[in-house]
Amino acid sequence: MVNRGPWSIQMRLTSPETALGIRIDAHRRFSKREINDWILARISLEKGDKVLDIGCGNGKQLIPFAKTVGSSGLAYGIDVSQSLLDEALVVAKHDRVNIQVKRCGMEQIRPCLGSMTFDAISSCFSLYYSKGVSQTITDISNLLADKGRLFVCGPMRGNNAELAHLHQEVSDLPEDFVTHTEFMENHALPLLRHEFRKVETSIFRNSIVFPDPESLLTYWRSYTLFVASARTQFDDLVKRRFSEDGSFVTNKVVLGILALK
Ligand SMILES: C[S@@+](CC[C@H](N)C(=O)[O-])C[C@H]1O[C@@H](n2cnc3c(N)ncnc32)[C@H](O)[C@@H]1O
Repeated sequence: MVNRGPWSIQMRLTSPETALGIRIDAHRRFSKREINDWILARISLEKGDKVLDIGCGNGKQLIPFAKTVGSSGLAYGIDVSQSLLDEALVVAKHDRVNIQVKRCGMEQIRPCLGSMTFDAISSCFSLYYSKGVSQTITDISNLLADKGRLFVCGPMRGNNAELAHLHQEVSDLPEDFVTHTEFMENHALPLLRHEFRKVETSIFRNSIVFPDPESLLTYWRSYTLFVASARTQFDDLVKRRFSEDGSFVTNKVVLGILALK
């Protein structure tokens, strides 16, 4: 697998942190389903559980995890971005839930978390950023208590195919988009099957209905599909498409892998 390194590698117009906020906001406003409902149902947290969220970002999953495990449990998040961890802490304070966070790359899990153990570990839309996925998966397994569970999710084949096809009318697919789309099936799944006793998969599908050209262009600019040199052509294409169709629908297809120790 070619991993092009930090998630900031794409020549986006905004910082990766702002781009993440834009995508989360678009999913909240324009999609039919809430992905956290699916994630929470798969990871099956209980009151008192200790859960680790790897690549927790601004707390999209970590805050609901904290609400579920309650004050007798532990919701612990790690991420490379201190500004996203700070955002998560603000939300936690507002929602009156306890989270603990630490700035830490997933490649440094062992020195970072020492002898901590967890009942459950989650990594959503993050694991493909690891610079050593095989070692990260082994480290995750070692952090899990006996009978612990890991839930990983990310895009799979066909994810955002409608948007990708539109993009291909003006430019090739960027390497990051392709490697992220292949990661779950081609890399995560075989490695998890090797490391864990039992592995179960499930698929989450969600339509995003963009109501106007600006909402779609803003999303594209904050996504791995963005190619700066194709910007003017893509802007024109999107405006033409909306004048013909009135809206644009793309479908998220997400693979979830539950791995049992
Ligand atoms: C696409 S976001 C997903 C965030 C969150 N899980 C969500 O679904 O909203 C990817 C996250 O991985 C983090 N990240 C990127 N590389 C990382 C690394 N090597 N170790 C830990 N976190 C990393 C980023 O800072 C970002 O918060």
